[in-house]
Amino acid sequence: MCLWCFSFAVTSLELITGQYGEMLKIPCNSGAIKAEDIAITKWKYDKGDGVPGYLLVKQKNQNVSISATDEYKVRVSMDENSSLLISAAKLSDQRTFTCMVVTGGDVFEYPVNVLIHKLPAKLEISEKAEELEIGRLTKLGKCVAKDANPPANITWFKNNKPLEADGKGISIKASVAIESGTGLSTTTSILEYSATKEDTGAKFECRADSLPLESSSMNFTITYSTENIMLEVSPQKELKEGDNLTLKCVADGNPAPTSFNFHLKGELVTVENTDTYTIANVSRNATGEYKCSLIDDTSMEATRNITVTYLDINLSPSGNIVKLAGDALNLSLQIDSSGKAEVSWTKNNTKLDKQPDFTKLGYSDSGRYEWTVTVGHITRTASFDLTVEGKGPAVIKSLFKNRSNDGQHKVLTCEAEGSPKPAVSWSINGTLLSESPFINGKITHKIKVVPSANLTVHCTVTNRLGKHDTHASDISVLSFFTDQSEDSDQTRLVVGVIVGLLIATLVIGLAYWVYSKKSNCCQGAPRKISPTSLTLHQQPEPLIQGRMNPCSGVIYAKFTP
Ligand SMILES: *[C@@H]1O[C@H](CO)[C@@H](O)[C@H](O)[C@H]1NC(C)=O
Ligand SMILES: *[C@@H]1O[C@H](CO)[C@@H](O)[C@H](O)[C@H]1NC(C)=O
Ligand SMILES: *[C@@H]1O[C@H](CO)[C@@H](O)[C@H](O)[C@H]1NC(C)=O
Ligand SMILES: *[C@@H]1O[C@H](CO)[C@@H](O)[C@H](O)[C@H]1NC(C)=O
Ligand SMILES: *[C@@H]1O[C@H](CO)[C@@H](O)[C@H](O)[C@H]1NC(C)=O
Ligand SMILES: *[C@@H]1O[C@H](CO)[C@@H](O)[C@H](O)[C@H]1NC(C)=O
Ligand SMILES: *[C@@H]1O[C@H](CO)[C@@H](O)[C@H](O)[C@H]1NC(C)=O
Ligand SMILES: *[C@@H]1O[C@H](CO)[C@@H](O)[C@H](O)[C@H]1NC(C)=O
Ligand SMILES: *[C@@H]1O[C@H](CO)[C@@H](O)[C@H](O)[C@H]1NC(C)=O
Ligand SMILES: *[C@@H]1O[C@H](CO)[C@@H](O)[C@H](O)[C@H]1NC(C)=O
Ligand SMILES: *[C@@H]1O[C@H](CO)[C@@H](O)[C@H](O)[C@H]1NC(C)=O
Ligand SMILES: *[C@@H]1O[C@H](CO)[C@@H](O)[C@H](O)[C@H]1NC(C)=O
Repeated sequence: MCLWCFSFAVTSLELITGQYGEMLKIPCNSGAIKAEDIAITKWKYDKGDGVPGYLLVKQKNQNVSISATDEYKVRVSMDENSSLLISAAKLSDQRTFTCMVVTGGDVFEYPVNVLIHKLPAKLEISEKAEELEIGRLTKLGKCVAKDANPPANITWFKNNKPLEADGKGISIKASVAIESGTGLSTTTSILEYSATKEDTGAKFECRADSLPLESSSMNFTITYSTENIMLEVSPQKELKEGDNLTLKCVADGNPAPTSFNFHLKGELVTVENTDTYTIANVSRNATGEYKCSLIDDTSMEATRNITVTYLDINLSPSGNIVKLAGDALNLSLQIDSSGKAEVSWTKNNTKLDKQPDFTKLGYSDSGRYEWTVTVGHITRTASFDLTVEGKGPAVIKSLFKNRSNDGQHKVLTCEAEGSPKPAVSWSINGTLLSESPFINGKITHKIKVVPSANLTVHCTVTNRLGKHDTHASDISVLSFFTDQSEDSDQTRLVVGVIVGLLIATLVIGLAYWVYSKKSNCCQGAPRKISPTSLTLHQQPEPLIQGRMNPCSGVIYAKFTP
C-alpha cells in the first residue's frame, strides 16, 4: 500500500507534559478531523537520527494493531479519539511522537513533543548542626531533593526570607546528581552560615523552587560567650539602713552563665545556680564597693558603689521640761547621717521658721516642740514639752467693769498673768460668764453681778506658787462708778453730780494749783502707779488709768495698797 502517494500536511509541533510513572496520553489532531472521516491512524516515534519507530496502526472498522517490537510493544495502546496511550511514563519517553492520519485523499502528520516531569518526593534536611557559634562559618545542614525532573532548585530560608550566598556569612553549595537507571536528578544543597546573636531562635528551612514543598524547619542553639556583664542593685532608688540589699549579676551569653562571684567590699562570695545575692537588714557599714564577675573569666566584671543612707538624731532635753520664766533653755541637737539633713521645727503642730530661741523664756514659749530631721527617705522626729512657770505667784494685770448689754448687770473682768494656770476667785457672788483659754500665761475671767449696794470687789488669783496676789489686785470700786444709763433719772442725777463735781473740781483744782504754786503744798511729782498693777476702767472713758495725782484733790477711787 502506497501511503506516500497522498498529499502531506504537517502541522506545527505540539508540546505536552506528562507525569513520571503515570499513563501518558498523547492526543492526535486535537479533534480537527472527524473520527468517521479517518481511514487510517498510525503512531510512530523518532528513534533518533530521523529513523522512525512504528508503534501501532488502526484502520477503519478494524482493531488496533501494534507494530512496535521494542519496549513500547507492551506499553502502547490507543483510545477512541486516536490518542496514543503509553503506560508508566519514563524519562526516555521525552521525545517526539507523530500521529499520521489518512483521510479520503490526504495524509496529515501531527508531531507532539513530550516532556516528563517529576517532583522530588520530599525535601529532607540532614547533617544538622548541633549549635552555632557566633561568627564562625558552620555547616548548618544539607537539604536533599531526591528524584526529580527537571532537577529541583533548592533555596534556603531564614525566617521565611530567602538566603543568598554572599561570600562571607552565607555559603550555599548545590549539586545535582542524575541516577543512571531512571535518569531522575537529585539536588543537594549545603548551607554554611555564620550566626550572629540576633539569630537566636531563628527558623531555617529549605524549599524547592516553584514547588509547594518545604522542608521541616530547624532551629539552632546559638552559642556565644559573655560580652556584657552588669551588676544590678535593688532597691534601685535609695538603700536605707534596715533594707534588704539584693545584688543581681546580669550577664549575656549562650548558654548563660549560672555561677557568679560577688565581691562584697573585698569579701568574695561564689553563688551557684543563681545570679543574685541578698544582704538582709543592711547597716551603714555596708556602704562600699561591690563587684560581680564570671567565675571562669574574672575579666568580665561589673562594679557598683553602694551607699547606705542612715540617720540618727539626738535631742536634749526631751520629755516634759518645766522652766522658770526668764531662764534659758539650752538645746543640744546631734545629727549623725549619711548625707545632708533637712531640719524643721514645729510648736504645737505649727511650723516654725527657724529653730526656737530659748535664751530668755517667756510664758508664750510653753508648748510642745517637735524637731524633724530628714535625709533622703528617712525621717526622724524628737520632741519635748516645755512648760514655763512664773518665778512667783500669778499677778493681776487688770480689773475692770462694764455694763452688760441689757443694762441689768455689771460685768466684771479680771485679767491675770502667771504660770501655772491660776485659779480666779471673786469677793462677790456672781455668775461666771467666760474664762478665756490659758494662753501664753494669760487668763481672762468674766463674771456677771447684779448691783445692789456700794461694793468693794476683790479679784484673787491663786496658783501653786502663791495663794493670792492681794497686794496688787484687790480693788475697791465706789458706787458712783455705776454706769450712766442704769435708769434715766438716776443717770441724769449722776451725770449732774459728775458735771457739778467736775466744775467744782476744776475750780478747786485751779485754786489749788494757784495756791500750790505759792505754797508748794503739793510735794513731788504725781505718784505713778504701775499700770500693770491697776487699770480701772469706766465707760466710755477711763477715769483713772494707773495714775493718781495727789495734788488734784479729786479722788474717784481709792485703792488699798
Ligand atoms: C477485534 O478484536 C475482538 C477481540 O478483541 C474480536 O472479537 C474481533 O473479531 C476483532 N475484530 C476484527 C475486525 O478483527
Ligand atoms: C474523545 O473525545 C470526545 C470529544 O472530544 C470526548 O467526549 C471523549 O471523552 C474522548 N474519549 C476519550 C477516551 O478520551
Ligand atoms: C533554578 O534556578 C535557576 C536560577 O534562578 C533558574 O535559571 C532555573 O530555571 C531554575 N530551575 C527550576 C527548575 O526552577
Ligand atoms: C526549636 O523550636 C521548637 C519549637 O518551635 C522548640 O521546641 C525547640 O526548643 C527549638 N529548639 C532550639 C534549639 O531552639
Ligand atoms: C528583708 O527580708 C526579710 C526576709 O527575707 C523580710 O522578712 C523583710 O521584710 C525584708 N525587709 C525589707 C525591708 O524588705
Ligand atoms: C537589723 O539590724 C539591727 C542592727 O544592725 C537590729 O537592731 C535589728 O533588729 C535588725 N532587724 C531585723 C529585722 O533583723
Ligand atoms: C557592720 O555592722 C554590723 C552591726 O551593725 C556588724 O554586725 C557587722 O559586723 C559590721 N560589718 C562590718 C564589715 O563592719
Ligand atoms: C567607687 O568609689 C571609688 C572610691 O570612692 C572610686 O575610685 C570608684 O571609681 C568608684 N566606682 C564607681 C563604679 O563609681
Ligand atoms: C547653756 O549654754 C551656755 C553656753 O553654751 C552655758 O554657759 C550654760 O551653762 C548652759 N546652761 C545649761 C543649763 O546647760
Ligand atoms: C501649746 O500647747 C500647750 C499644751 O500642750 C499649751 O499649754 C500652750 O498654751 C499651747 N501654746 C500655744 C501657743 O498654743
Ligand atoms: C455668796 O452666796 C453664799 C450663798 O449662796 C453666801 O453664803 C455667801 O455669804 C455669799 N458671799 C458673798 C460675799 O456675798
Ligand atoms: C454709795 O456711796 C455713796 C458715797 O459714798 C453714798 O453717797 C451713797 O449713798 C451710797 N449708796 C448706797 C446705796 O449705799
